[in-house]
Amino acid sequence: MAQTVAVIVGSLRKESFTLKIANALAKLAPPSLKLEIVTLHGLSFFNQDLEANPPADWVSFREKIQASDAVLFVTPEYNRSIPGVLKNAIDVGSRPSGQSSFKTKPIGIVANSPGPLGGVCAAMNLKQILPGYCGPILQQPEIYLNGVGDAFDDKGNLTKEALQKVLKQYIDAYAAHVERHRAVG
Ligand SMILES: Cc1cc2nc3c(=O)[nH]c(=O)nc-3n(C[C@H](O)[C@H](O)[C@H](O)COP(=O)(O)O)c2cc1C
Repeated sequence: MAQTVAVIVGSLRKESFTLKIANALAKLAPPSLKLEIVTLHGLSFFNQDLEANPPADWVSFREKIQASDAVLFVTPEYNRSIPGVLKNAIDVGSRPSGQSSFKTKPIGIVANSPGPLGGVCAAMNLKQILPGYCGPILQQPEIYLNGVGDAFDDKGNLTKEALQKVLKQYIDAYAAHVERHRAVG
């Protein structure tokens, strides 16, 4: 049976390149993976005062992550880091302490930018903050997609061949990573 992957999209923008990349990955994924796009609209701010009685949107986000076999972060770069909405989602998902929803989930990181550096700092930031409460992070290949601004047609389909090729290579490597760390039972 296909392993389900929660694809967490780090941008709320309607015409987000990040969302389009997530959709492209879902199409390129091999049959062993089923990618489910998770957007962060409506996820309220983490507030430790609410931990004892968490809001419904936190519970539903955590349940989505827990129900998946693996997690793939697809993110743009904001000010040489990840967008606040994504950090908030990680904070929400990582709690309660010791019960992270990301625990044991094999992780992938796909960064992008319309600029020349491909969101490398955002990816590096994720690699810095995730290890304490998630499963194994795919280290190689790394993927930093630059120049994504002209990669899609007006329907949001990925048309840039070079990008298609690296995304396919990445999602196949990620599928192997998920398989290697498949939960037993
Ligand atoms: C607050 C803010 C900060 C940004 N900082 C960076 C940055 O550090 N590096 C970069 O390559 N692009 C940066 N950008 C440009 C984004 O890469 C660009 O807006 C991109 O389209 C956002 O991703 P999206 O299309 O998925 O919404 C920034 C954009 C915003 C709004």
